[in-house]
Amino acid sequence: MTISASANQLLKTFEASLELNKNGVHKTELFAGVDLGTAYIVTAVVDGDGVPVAGALTRSRSSIRDGLVLDYMGAIRLLREQVTAIRGAGYAIQRAAAAFPPGTMGQNARAFRNVLEASDLDCSGLIDEPSAAAQVLGIREGAVVDIGGGTTGISVLREGEVVYTADEATGGMHLDLVLAGNFKIEVQEAERMKTNASRQRELFPLVRPVFQKMASIVNHHLKGHRVEMLYLVGGTSCFPGIVEVMEEETGLAVSRPDNPLLVTPLGIALHCARMNGAKLAAAQSGGKAGNGSGQRVQ
Ligand SMILES: Nc1ncnc2c1ncn2[C@@H]1O[C@H](COP(=O)(O)OP(=O)(O)OP(=O)(O)O)[C@@H](O)[C@H]1O
Ligand SMILES: [Mg+2]
Repeated sequence: MTISASANQLLKTFEASLELNKNGVHKTELFAGVDLGTAYIVTAVVDGDGVPVAGALTRSRSSIRDGLVLDYMGAIRLLREQVTAIRGAGYAIQRAAAAFPPGTMGQNARAFRNVLEASDLDCSGLIDEPSAAAQVLGIREGAVVDIGGGTTGISVLREGEVVYTADEATGGMHLDLVLAGNFKIEVQEAERMKTNASRQRELFPLVRPVFQKMASIVNHHLKGHRVEMLYLVGGTSCFPGIVEVMEEETGLAVSRPDNPLLVTPLGIALHCARMNGAKLAAAQSGGKAGNGSGQRVQ
């Protein structure tokens, strides 16, 4: 099943809402989803119908690494800034949810809850990242491949449940390192170069081996699983050409939403809405993946 037009439309609406253009007067209650990642902290806000209305995206500056909260105070400070900006634009958020990388339940998931509460949000629940992504994509079968800043996560969904999950430390950062080495520049500058759409075609041959490595990680973890379709999410999946490399190396059909970076945060906000009894339109709840109970599945 390829990603539906309505899922892509939802992501587009969320992307536009990151502008926070001060029209935050809302009759229904709002629900927030917070994605604390290695590279970015992203907050998504949806209304009672599951429509994205606001959001914020900030570099996480080493507060989080590979899905673990390293700098607790730093993460709180950045999230508080986001909450203040969103409320300042008129969006009175209070209820929120967060996501944890699968396989990191327990202490780490509690740390996520604490970061929300210390940022003056009420935590309605936690959800694992692939289940959050599946809610937006509206999928119940296949593998969600989340290529973020620090890691590549592979999760297999069967009848809407996450049945296998793994995380390996190869992500966008490794592309930056390759480019930094090649051009003899700092990694920060390499990342800017990498995310500049007008340079990506020229850089592709240099980063292709990293994508091949990611594909071999996917192949390794999917051995023995019956999977027909890969869904690429996470910021690194934005890079043009990655879909073709994944298709060639895995021999599977690969589908990528228009903005893979925003999928998980939006899914977390939808989870928050659902936890609070919101009845979402079919397009926003097609996935019904996972039960959000935060069970370790590996
Ligand atoms: N347009 C783009 N093209 C290529 N890479 C991009 C683009 N936009 C962002 N990235 C990269 O995506 C990565 C961040 O993605 P994402 O927000 O999914 O990661 P994260 O959740 O913070 O990290 P992790 O999941 O590893 O903890 C960074 O390496 C960033 O450079
Ligand atoms: Mg991530």
